[in-house]
Amino acid sequence: MSADAKRARYAELRRDLAAVLDGVDDPVTVMATAACLVHSALPQASWTGFYRVVAPQLLRVGPYQGPLGCLEIPFDRGVCGAAARERASQLVADVHAFPGHIACDAAARSELVVPVDDRRGELVAVLDVDSREPAAFDGEDRAGLESVAGLLAGHL
Ligand code: SME
Repeated sequence: MSADAKRARYAELRRDLAAVLDGVDDPVTVMATAACLVHSALPQASWTGFYRVVAPQLLRVGPYQGPLGCLEIPFDRGVCGAAARERASQLVADVHAFPGHIACDAAARSELVVPVDDRRGELVAVLDVDSREPAAFDGEDRAGLESVAGLLAGHL
């Protein structure tokens, strides 16, 4: 898919999310709705969902779409942990080359994880998309998912 087509797809996703989440501020509802719409918008995604910050340095799985995910991820483990620890998106073309990657799904090959803040600017979760295809996500996806996370911050 071209960069323009991807940008258009994320713009449509943001429009859909903004319309459905208008007036909604329940975090479970927000995350479940986002997991559904993001997963539907990304055919290459095998798993799409949230890991929530539930204690200092600890993520616990939230709403998601896809096969069974790990229940808890400490900040010092995996791609999700790195995104939370560094408060920075992690774009991983080959998960086998990522030190400490957590293989919840043995078939996972690549992933993209972006931090999610609340409206006060506190980190509340990370949004994780995994794929069974290598290098399934690129810089357009990172920018697109970061913009989705920015939209969600207004509802969290
Ligand atoms: N791949 C992630 C773990 C979460 S899942 O696969 C659902 C990671 O290394 O952070």
